[in-house]
Amino acid sequence: MSTCRICEGPVKEFLDLGRQPLSDAFPEPGGTEGEFFFRLAVGLCASCTMVQLVEEVPREKMFREDYPYHSSGSSVMRAHFEATARRFLETELTGPDPFVVEIGCNDGVMLRTVSDAGVRHLGVDPSAGVAEVAREKGVRVRTAFFEEATALDIAATEGRADLVYAANTLCHIPYLDSIFRGLDALLKPDGVFVFEDPYLGEIVDRTSFDQIYDEHFYFFTARSVQAMARGFGFELVDVERLPVHGGEVRYTVARRGARTPSDAVDALLVEEETRRLADPATLDRFADAVARTRDELVALLERLRDEGRRVVAYGATAKSATVANYCGLGPDLIAYVTDTTPAKQNRLTPGSHIPVRDPEAFSAPYPDYALLFAWNHAEEIMAKEEDFRAAGGRWILYVPDVHLV
Ligand code: SAH
Ligand code: TYD
Ligand code: ZN
Repeated sequence: MSTCRICEGPVKEFLDLGRQPLSDAFPEPGGTEGEFFFRLAVGLCASCTMVQLVEEVPREKMFREDYPYHSSGSSVMRAHFEATARRFLETELTGPDPFVVEIGCNDGVMLRTVSDAGVRHLGVDPSAGVAEVAREKGVRVRTAFFEEATALDIAATEGRADLVYAANTLCHIPYLDSIFRGLDALLKPDGVFVFEDPYLGEIVDRTSFDQIYDEHFYFFTARSVQAMARGFGFELVDVERLPVHGGEVRYTVARRGARTPSDAVDALLVEEETRRLADPATLDRFADAVARTRDELVALLERLRDEGRRVVAYGATAKSATVANYCGLGPDLIAYVTDTTPAKQNRLTPGSHIPVRDPEAFSAPYPDYALLFAWNHAEEIMAKEEDFRAAGGRWILYVPDVHLV
């Protein structure tokens, strides 16, 4: 049994996804020797109910100069973050000379709107390549891991912040004690910390086990976030469900007593309690559903191969590393994966070594089937690729279950 990274309580493992690579490290063809692997398994803390990985991958291995994920690759996500920035500009950032810090700003997808509005901001991101792209958009970025020392330095040199924001980043950070000590130093007395990440309730509902990979260390709920915030002298004061990335929750955390919690917090806590989200039995059922999805997906892909169909995959997502490696998918079942990210193209998928091709390959000619690894962008992609279906092609989805579209 491992120990909870938040409260040191006992963590009971409920799902083992086996030997897995770094999800965002795409080797060159012929360069697969020395790939890093670890055991990907998830557990539930019996004390604070935080769901977390049982093995931690060193952060420098994941967030490097050539980290290939660019947030601006989806038009839906660009719109989401622009709306988020506009909302902040109208709510938390209306005082005199407001200041916002973003943890994990990536290519500046959110902060560019703040920068264009002339509002004082600072992004913090250790991945030098994406940070440089943000700078080209006029966003101020520190290439660093946000932690207590970074926060102290920002507070000393730039002053305290009205708002600290993190999207799809807090769940990447095992050392949250350091983060909260940093927030305590960096936030103004009435400042808030807002973060959004995939929601455990959605992952369980949709059996979206591919949300589990090296970078996603925590799987938050209102209950576990409330317990965590309290433990660090803060309080969960608002929650909001978001449709992006397969279902997320945006949490707002303030210093204890600084703000009155909204009714939405209680409502989500009650919902989680009613559906027994933190019950070991619920998570055991989830693990059974994951194994069923794997068996059905493998059976379908093997049948299609035996029938001589041409099957490719769409979107070399970090999530798909989990699916490919857990299900044993390789170039024998999937001819290639198409992806718009130049840094992933002409490389191989991590661990499973399926070639990654640029989007032009997809229509030349269209395959019979396309496994939608980027299922969280289904609407955007299916609209863009209408001609694939018109040509008789079929999408294969495995969320919430294995089915054809
Ligand atoms: N906010 C963007 C990016 C998410 S990807 C979005 O929602 O699309 C996660 C980002 O967090 C990466 O760019 C990674 O480099 C960064 N990151 C990881 N650990 C970090 C840390 N300790 N401090 C700041 N950024 C971090
Ligand atoms: P995403 O699902 O956002 O995140 P993660 O890698 O964390 O699982 O990744 C989407 C991937 O799909 C990214 O590599 C870009 C690619 N993509 C396309 O190839 N075409 C598209 O139209 C979109 C929206 C994404
Ligand atoms: Zn705990």
